[in-house]
Amino acid sequence: MPVRAFLEPFSGKTPATPPVWFMRQAGRYLDEYRALRKTAPNFLNFCYTPDLTVEATLQPIRRYGFDAAILFSDILVIPDALGQNVRFEEGVGPLLDPVTDRAGIDTLTPDGVLDHLAPVFETLTRLRRELPDETALIGFAGSPWTLAFYMVEGRGGVDGGKLKRMAYGAPDDFRALMTKLEDSLVAYLCRQVEAGAEVLQLFDSWSGIADETLFERWIVEPTARIVARIKDVHPDVPIIGFPRGAGVMVADYAMRTGINGMSVDSQVPLSWARKAIGPEVVLQGNLDNQLLVTGGDEMDAAVRRIKRTMTGRPFIFNLGHGILPMTPPENVARVLDVLRGPDGGED
Ligand code: CP3
Repeated sequence: MPVRAFLEPFSGKTPATPPVWFMRQAGRYLDEYRALRKTAPNFLNFCYTPDLTVEATLQPIRRYGFDAAILFSDILVIPDALGQNVRFEEGVGPLLDPVTDRAGIDTLTPDGVLDHLAPVFETLTRLRRELPDETALIGFAGSPWTLAFYMVEGRGGVDGGKLKRMAYGAPDDFRALMTKLEDSLVAYLCRQVEAGAEVLQLFDSWSGIADETLFERWIVEPTARIVARIKDVHPDVPIIGFPRGAGVMVADYAMRTGINGMSVDSQVPLSWARKAIGPEVVLQGNLDNQLLVTGGDEMDAAVRRIKRTMTGRPFIFNLGHGILPMTPPENVARVLDVLRGPDGGED
């Protein structure tokens, strides 16, 4: 297998220019994505059509030459595959028929998950054939906690009260839900590796609502089990975790889950993360996605600052969260120029 620059930090290397990719590097900020998206009746249908997902994954690679491509899909294909009703409403986001009780949890069926997600595996296999040799391929899934958030709440943009009340007040039911998710995710992610994914990322977008106890029990422990179970089958695949919004608890997450990399949001200072977390965990992040909207000197300076802060430490350049739809595509190109260009300059 050719050496891909993206993988180097996972063997302790610290190249002068860190490898780079962006969360949501495919999507609505690109004209060519919006045109492609129009050809599918709805977003889930798009996600299950390999001709479209392969093309959407490749679009930002052609434009910018990122060091890694991320599978085009969504974290909510797992609740969909478990039999929950999931839909995406224009301008609203995802809506699910919420799971509220044990009866709802019992109707979720893990048996058919891998068959339902066959188009995802086909996408990965085709991508590995079509991507340039130097581009790594990232597979992903949502964490059990973040998937449970959408499954119990039925939507994003809420405070997670229903989810927490189930976790605290009906712990046996909650465990049944989390176990189904954990088992499905292990099978799903292992199959992604077998289909061509070389790195995996676990998105924990809602970890920021958990207190210390919930964080330990329902984020750190399940993540540690998922990582260990994947490594039993695929010991060499690097796994990146993204406990978004978790503040100082990210140090615990990095050290106790067995992950190989951790994505850091924009609110966690990289200078702190560098001291708090040993170099055996690759750090990834954390440019503010709003800077990518406004661009200019402020953005250039932030890129140089991040690069300088992380010099000599295994690191992958990324954003603190996904690219926003209003982002001017030329600002993405500019970040890569600044990052890959000669060092120095004013900030
Ligand atoms: O380029 C990539 O990063 C790969 C594709 C990708 C998507 N979603 C495509 C998408 C990835 C990795 C995701 C992950 C995802 N999905 C997360 C975790 C990361 C995060 O943002 O915290 C979450 C929470 C979801 C759930 C989800 N999907 C939401 C909340 C939304 C609506 C918000 C929005 O931007 O509309 C989606 C829809 C979605 N997923 C879109 C895309 C490109 C937009 C839908 C469209 O194009 O019509």
